[in-house]
Amino acid sequence: MNRDLMYSAEVRALVRDAYRDVPPTTAAVARKLYSEEELQLVPASAIDRSLGVANHLRYADIRPGETILDLGCGGGIDTILAARRAGPTGRVIALDFLPEMLDRTTRAAAEAGLSNIEPLEAEMEAIRCPDDSVDLVISNGVINLSARKARVLAECARVLRPGGRLCVSDLTVDQDDLPPEILTQPAAWAGCIAGALAEADFVHKLRKAGFTGVDVPHREPLSIDDCALYPLFSADVIALMRSLLPADRHHRVAVAIVVRAVVAPAQH
Ligand SMILES: C[S@@+](CC[C@H](N)C(=O)[O-])C[C@H]1O[C@@H](n2cnc3c(N)ncnc32)[C@H](O)[C@@H]1O
Repeated sequence: MNRDLMYSAEVRALVRDAYRDVPPTTAAVARKLYSEEELQLVPASAIDRSLGVANHLRYADIRPGETILDLGCGGGIDTILAARRAGPTGRVIALDFLPEMLDRTTRAAAEAGLSNIEPLEAEMEAIRCPDDSVDLVISNGVINLSARKARVLAECARVLRPGGRLCVSDLTVDQDDLPPEILTQPAAWAGCIAGALAEADFVHKLRKAGFTGVDVPHREPLSIDDCALYPLFSADVIALMRSLLPADRHHRVAVAIVVRAVVAPAQH
């Protein structure tokens, strides 16, 4: 038990340090994930810190007036797009544990002329929102960073109202498939790979947390070249991947998925 708690604290410290100092710019990630029309709706400062892994907003069916929670909002690219879709009668709670990221999201919201975005400094393992207060949880490349994923999903189920939805992008990995020399690199955890679950485990954890109607409408392989777009991976780790992974795996180090699920009313 002690070991597990220490381990969580180490992971949290590693992730905080990695994301505090992400060098500019990650606009290449944004150009990979979002259409030109979507990018035109977002200020450059948010595009410059795009660190997600897929585009779940296309599957989220956001309705005007909804209360949306963006877990690990980062520079705010999804927060801005979601806030535009929720409209002035809706709102997006932009949660991140780094004040630097929240400042960036707040500035991007002001630049976009949006007043329906509320920054929230908190950890996704302890979401400071009341029970049953959110219609939709979104998140992009964040849950895979937690050492306490069951706890994160339980928190999502708690804050969602009965019938509320979750629609997130996350990386999945078959851990047995990747060499330990890669999985044990701190940069591989910060880059969302070493902490990632297999898809079946992610789906299982969602059901255990009280979600129902789980589906995976999108899967997208992440290649070594894609990993190199994220400054979280050091050149050493990219080189390690190229040398240790068989050539037929270079195009698929991990798989980004979009997962949707609904909170069963019986859980409340
Ligand atoms: C991979 S980035 C994704 C950012 C954003 N969703 C995007 O698509 O650009 C992960 C973000 O999650 C935040 N984060 C990581 N662990 C967290 C935690 N335990 N609680 C809250 N935020 C966390 C980081 O500070 C960072 O902003």
